[in-house]
Amino acid sequence: MVKILVVFYSRTGVTRSIAGLAASVLKELGGESVSVETEEIIDLKERSGILGYLGAGRDAALKAEARIKPPRAKPEDFDLVVIGTPVWAFTAAPAIRTFCDRHCRNARNVGFFCTMGGSGDRGAFEAMEAACGKKPIASLPIVVKPGRVESMEAYRPKVRRFAEQMLKACLPGFPG
Ligand SMILES: Cc1cc2nc3c(=O)[nH]c(=O)nc-3n(C[C@H](O)[C@H](O)[C@H](O)COP(=O)(O)O)c2cc1C
Repeated sequence: MVKILVVFYSRTGVTRSIAGLAASVLKELGGESVSVETEEIIDLKERSGILGYLGAGRDAALKAEARIKPPRAKPEDFDLVVIGTPVWAFTAAPAIRTFCDRHCRNARNVGFFCTMGGSGDRGAFEAMEAACGKKPIASLPIVVKPGRVESMEAYRPKVRRFAEQMLKACLPGFPG
C-alpha cells in the first residue's frame, strides 16, 4: 500500500479545490494500491480583507515565517507528500514555506502544485524545494484567471498527468 498525503494552504479556495481534485484523481488511478489523506494547513494570521491581502503580499515577499496550526499528519509516515500553495508575490505562501521547512525535511518523495493568477510558479517551486531540501518528483502549475474560475473539472486532464507522473515514480507496477 502506497501512502499519499495531499497537503495544502488556501486563502480563497482555489488551491483547496485543486487539492481535492488531485486527491480524487490519485485515488481513482491508484485504486486499492494507494491510501490518500488530505490536510489543510492553517495560517494563524488573519489574511482576509484588504489588510490581510497586503500583509500576505508583504510576508511572502519578505519570506517571513508563518505561525501555522500544528499539522495532524507526519510527512515522514507517507511514501509521497503532495504539497499545494497559492503563488504570493512570485513565491510560495508563508504557511507552506514554513510547513515544508519544519515538517518535510524527512519526507520520502514530494510533489508540488501551485495556483496563481498569472505567473510566479518557478519562484514558488524553488522556495518549496529549498524548504523541503528535496527536488519534487513532479510539479504542476495551474493558472486560474481572477474572475474566471471555471469549473475545476477543466483542470482534470492536467491534474491527471501530474498524478500519473507521481504514481509512476512511487507505485511499483503502475500503470499496471
Ligand atoms: C498576497 C497575494 C499575492 C499574490 N501574488 C501573485 C503572484 O505573484 N502571481 C500570480 O500569478 N498570482 C498572485 N496572486 C493570486 C493568487 O496566486 C491566486 O489567486 C491563487 O489561485 C489563490 O489561491 P487560493 O484561492 O487557494 O488562496 C496573489 C494573491 C495574493 C493574495
